[in-house]
Amino acid sequence: MQVRIAQDAPGGARADAVVVPVFTSGEMSSAAKSLDGILGGAITDVLASEEIKGKLAECALLHAGDKPFHRVLIVGLGERAKFEPLNLARYAGAAVRYLGRRNVAAIAIALPDEAKGDEAACASFVAEGAITGSFETTIYQEKPEKRIATTSVTVLAHDFDANAVKAGVERGVILGEAVNLARTLAVTPGNDMTPSILAKEAAKHGKESGIEVEVFDEDRIRKEGMGSFLSVAQGSAQPPKFIIMRYNGNPGSKELLALVGKGITFDTGGISLKPPERMEEMKYDMSGGAAVIATMWALGKLKPKLNVVGLVPATENMPGGKATKPGDIVKAMNGKTIEVINTDAEGRLILADALCYANELGATKIVDCATLTGACVIALGHAATAAVGSEESLTDEFLVAAKPSGERYWEMPLYDDYASAMKSDIADLKNTGGRPAGTLTAAAFLKSFVDETPWLHLDIAGTAYLDNESAWQAKGPTGTPVRAFVSFVETLAGEPVIHSNGKTLSSRA
Ligand code: BES
Ligand code: MN
Ligand code: ZN
Repeated sequence: MQVRIAQDAPGGARADAVVVPVFTSGEMSSAAKSLDGILGGAITDVLASEEIKGKLAECALLHAGDKPFHRVLIVGLGERAKFEPLNLARYAGAAVRYLGRRNVAAIAIALPDEAKGDEAACASFVAEGAITGSFETTIYQEKPEKRIATTSVTVLAHDFDANAVKAGVERGVILGEAVNLARTLAVTPGNDMTPSILAKEAAKHGKESGIEVEVFDEDRIRKEGMGSFLSVAQGSAQPPKFIIMRYNGNPGSKELLALVGKGITFDTGGISLKPPERMEEMKYDMSGGAAVIATMWALGKLKPKLNVVGLVPATENMPGGKATKPGDIVKAMNGKTIEVINTDAEGRLILADALCYANELGATKIVDCATLTGACVIALGHAATAAVGSEESLTDEFLVAAKPSGERYWEMPLYDDYASAMKSDIADLKNTGGRPAGTLTAAAFLKSFVDETPWLHLDIAGTAYLDNESAWQAKGPTGTPVRAFVSFVETLAGEPVIHSNGKTLSSRA
């Protein structure tokens, strides 16, 4: 997908279709009004018929005969008074999916009047939404049945600050491509997304965006003392990989943000085998790792002034002759011993060593993301990612930066009670704490491996992939938390492109 900008007014756009926004209660944007004039009131007629009501991402198509733009797609932006830039990702995504499914190749997209003064953020959302809207999961089909035919999107900057629109489009394209990269890695099945393949993908994308990538093999992982990580890998015929991606955006600074992603390329549960029902979804258990790799790729392109290291422990979790057995005791990099009660609680075991390693590298802030617990899906469903942190200031900073990105995060507490539940009779820790507050006992376990470093844990079990498609997004992998990570890094670097209104801080406030 190509996204570019043009100075044309909507009526002068040369395309197979031009997309213009309308609002609820029949209100038109200036772009819609100008086309309505050219088409003799055709848009007024559609709105009067209530064929569409202007709700977010609602679409209605009009043919425009011999006009240079051939067709007009009217797309709802919701209630005018409640406009926020984020809605433009859904507006553009819905347009691409509606037109792309109908074989329309080149489209021009108009901005609403509301974009004035906030062009960069608005254009970024349009570009991001157009690119993420074009994603489909049918990558293994010989003739994909749900092809999105749109290959070119032109953002109409007429009447707007063209430089800001251009900068926004550039960022949005990178962000959209990063989200789609994370989704592609995540949706690829376990046989084609082994730890070795994931490491190769990291190396390839790192090279492409100019960031350093180092991959530890099994021997090196053992030398580093990552016994907890290795205990998960030992049941598999596939060798584990520990992926390190370094982006040094501010070499003079001692600040180092570590992003850590769970990279279980398939989770059978190990000896504590999962039931077969929906086990195929466990190909998504490396979604956190995929998001970290994709974020690092995006940072290489966006070049914010911040040092960031991405860490992805990658392995399968398999039952095998050499697999870890319930009751086995393993030792993590920081010397702590762990009694493995349930081999299906493997994510925390691989993250434990990755968090220790982040500390070893001198990380000053650590954020991890993982499809960690089924309990998180019970608590929040698919509506939000759980955010659990060791320090309020870091949690708040993240929540504020993430809020306008469109991904939802909901803070949960980290009471001492949860740490108590993770005490073992025989070792320093055990890897499960029973059914109550499963997301939070898992978080308490992770906290044992971060020392004093401010740390935030994101449980994306309910948000990494979805069963239902929407007007703007295919079903399947979502790319969460790439958008929030990029916004967070930009915010820490003092270069936010999208701004939070700061109104909604945390669920604690
Ligand atoms: N990868 C799963 C968590 C998961 C479940 C993610 C459903 C997405 C959807 C994780 O490794 C796991 O199996 N967790 C166990 C932990 C339990 C044994 C303490 C769980 O949630 O059941
Ligand atoms: Mn598991
Ligand atoms: Zn898992």
